Amino acid sequence: MTDALIAKAVALLRAGQVVALPTETVYGLGADALNPAAVARIFALKGRPAEHPLIVHLPPDEPLDNWAASVPEAARALARAFWPGPLTMILARGARVPKAVTGGQDTVALRVPDHPVALALLRAFGSGIAAPSANRFGHISPTTAAHVRDEFGAAVPLILDGGPCRVGLESTIVDLSRGAPVVLRPGAIGAADIARVIGSAAMTDGATAAGPAPRVSGLLARHYAPRTPAELVESAALPGRLAELAALGQSVGVLALGRTVGQNCIALPDDPAAYGQGLYAALRELDGRGFSCLLVEAPPRDESWRAVNDRLQRAVA
Ligand code: TXA
Ligand code: MG
Repeated sequence: MTDALIAKAVALLRAGQVVALPTETVYGLGADALNPAAVARIFALKGRPAEHPLIVHLPPDEPLDNWAASVPEAARALARAFWPGPLTMILARGARVPKAVTGGQDTVALRVPDHPVALALLRAFGSGIAAPSANRFGHISPTTAAHVRDEFGAAVPLILDGGPCRVGLESTIVDLSRGAPVVLRPGAIGAADIARVIGSAAMTDGATAAGPAPRVSGLLARHYAPRTPAELVESAALPGRLAELAALGQSVGVLALGRTVGQNCIALPDDPAAYGQGLYAALRELDGRGFSCLLVEAPPRDESWRAVNDRLQRAVA
């Protein structure tokens, strides 16, 4: 990544334009977080409902107090432990954060991404960049610059190419604004990793948390979804289901675990991190091949597969 491209990106952001940027999780569609008109462009481009809040990406060492109205000690500890990295924290919204960024809510999502290009851009810009994943609303998140181009074409004036994303699944979101911390979206940083830093007694599960659920688009039942109808199938049931669909004259694409199953199949590694890294590219590829349906072989249910299983459930919903 050349300094000239970073300078061009900064100039676009200062002019209220959007820029696509790589992060370690997925590519983001960024705009100046303090410019409501620029933020509005993100919503228009994505076709995202205005009440769905965005994540503000911060330069390293940016004081949290510049963006949050109150910062619990747990938030400072998590920032020290995991930033830069795939963890987003929900805190009380600081007064200067426009409500356009937070979907009208009095909380704000903050993270420092761990990607050299994102960090170079954030340092050069010197302020927060609001960025959702760089895909049309409800579609699969992009993990390469080519994916972003496929989603938006020339509508995005600059796509910084930082190569394929290392993590491949969106950041873990932990809500620290409502008392006991709650994981709202599972990701590469697990609940156990968070509990090790802030104490397990403080953690509650998103499913059992009290109070009204915040608006999290990543929590919509159908999200991260291919356009081809998709089904999750246990390994043992896969051959039977394939035969059944073939007998019905359906053309079937398969996302398999660990080894390929016939033609029309992409196999992802039998390892949660490697599987997560490749998942969205594989779904996009299968989605583009014109199958009438997709079968996704169900991974194991244990905690290490939690983020993957969460995305798969939404992809087939
Ligand atoms: O890894 C990531 O988090 C990527 C990269 C680009 O950083 N970003 C991402 O953004 O996944 P997006 O907009 O696709 O998902 C952000 C999630 C949404 O589910 C949104 O509802 C939630 O964060 N969120 C943002 N602000 C929130 C808030 N104040 N309260 C609760 N949830 C919030
Ligand atoms: Mg998204």
